[in-house]
Amino acid sequence: MVRRVEQNLDRLWTRLAPFRRGPFKQDAFTSPLHSRKTAAILGIALGVSFTVCFLTGLLSHLIQHPPGWFLWPSRPAGLYRVTQGLHVATGIAAIPLLGAKLWTVFPRLFLWPPVENAAHALERLSLLPLVGGSVFLLVSGLNNIALWYPWEFFFPAAHYWAAWITVGALVVHVGAKGSITSALLRRQLPDPPAAPGGMSRRSFLASVAGAAGLVTLATAGQTVRPLRRLSLLAPRDPGVGPQGFPVNKTARSAVVTQSATDPQWRLIVEGRVGRPLSLSLADLRAMEQREVILPIACVEGWSATARWRGVPVQDLLALAGSPEQAEVTAESLQPRGLYRKSELNRLHAADADTLVALEVNGEPLHLEHGYPARIMGPNRPGVMQTKWLAKLVVS
Ligand code: HEM
Repeated sequence: MVRRVEQNLDRLWTRLAPFRRGPFKQDAFTSPLHSRKTAAILGIALGVSFTVCFLTGLLSHLIQHPPGWFLWPSRPAGLYRVTQGLHVATGIAAIPLLGAKLWTVFPRLFLWPPVENAAHALERLSLLPLVGGSVFLLVSGLNNIALWYPWEFFFPAAHYWAAWITVGALVVHVGAKGSITSALLRRQLPDPPAAPGGMSRRSFLASVAGAAGLVTLATAGQTVRPLRRLSLLAPRDPGVGPQGFPVNKTARSAVVTQSATDPQWRLIVEGRVGRPLSLSLADLRAMEQREVILPIACVEGWSATARWRGVPVQDLLALAGSPEQAEVTAESLQPRGLYRKSELNRLHAADADTLVALEVNGEPLHLEHGYPARIMGPNRPGVMQTKWLAKLVVS
């Protein structure tokens, strides 16, 4: 049955051959830069950047939506800053790599015969999610770091599922092109010579590597402090904002301007505790304070180190008579929104540096940074350092 379909296909392509026009014509593309070896080298660079990007993205997802088997440690304190910085840097480096790869291989989309057999058809079909998914991930990721959402869908879920689809298609692609890639790189397959007077492959690849390096350097300064002055393309300068660092969610957009400045504000500690607490700002200030230097590391890739001062969550749990190894849900005054709550797993809740922070860099928290109190702990994504704290619920 399959054999018959393949024979019929062969006949169809032979009949259609005289009608090949434009890009379908034989030798329609003359540049030797459209070679398979260039595709293979760029493929490897893309494979590495997509793998790092996928793994660090998956990690960020697990930290924010931990399944039962996953316990994210609170140490080293700056680990998330590194993994998420890498996620954004490899995603940005992949933009010129993907552009160059697609330019190199696009003549192959007009291959003749278009489909040879069932396996070839499947492999070609997998290019649709591979190319579509890659472009979607890089464009939506870039929009996200610029905090520009010109769409209706929910970014994290769309980005997450697109990543799985793309990586699935990438596995199929590497399966199909793995042996040819290795043969090309070991010079076991012929490669077209450079065109006289044309650009050599070496110069082409050097330009692509240069472009990838340049865009990465020009954005990495949003998390790598010494590169800050080179950060021409970074959407955020980590040194700009109230009290010296940026704000993602404003008090106005979170609808907390009144509740956070209400003198009647209380921090409630409740749940699995012996003595539920209701503490005013003065009560919290009267407790023993701890000062820590910690980075605030945002999922969008920027990070900034600051000096935080406040009451260790551990001390509040002890005061409330909470059991050992407790987990805590921190709730914000924010009335709505997916990020109005965050989880402190048992390691984060027990870390002496996890604070109910009242001050930053020697001043009471600015309203935009979570006044009167916010969570600030080591090795947590910025979005989980809950601002405008209202409650700690122990479980
Ligand atoms: C996001 C990553 C990638 C994308 C979007 C992508 C896209 C493509 C496309 C559209 C083609 C042309 C279709 C074809 O020749 O059948 C192609 C060809 C090719 N790719 Fe990739 N690719 C990626 C990663 C990789 C990786 C990781 C490798 C290396 C293992 C690789 C090696 C190749 C090779 C050698 C060819 C030419 C094959 C031939 O002439 O038969 N690609 N790629």
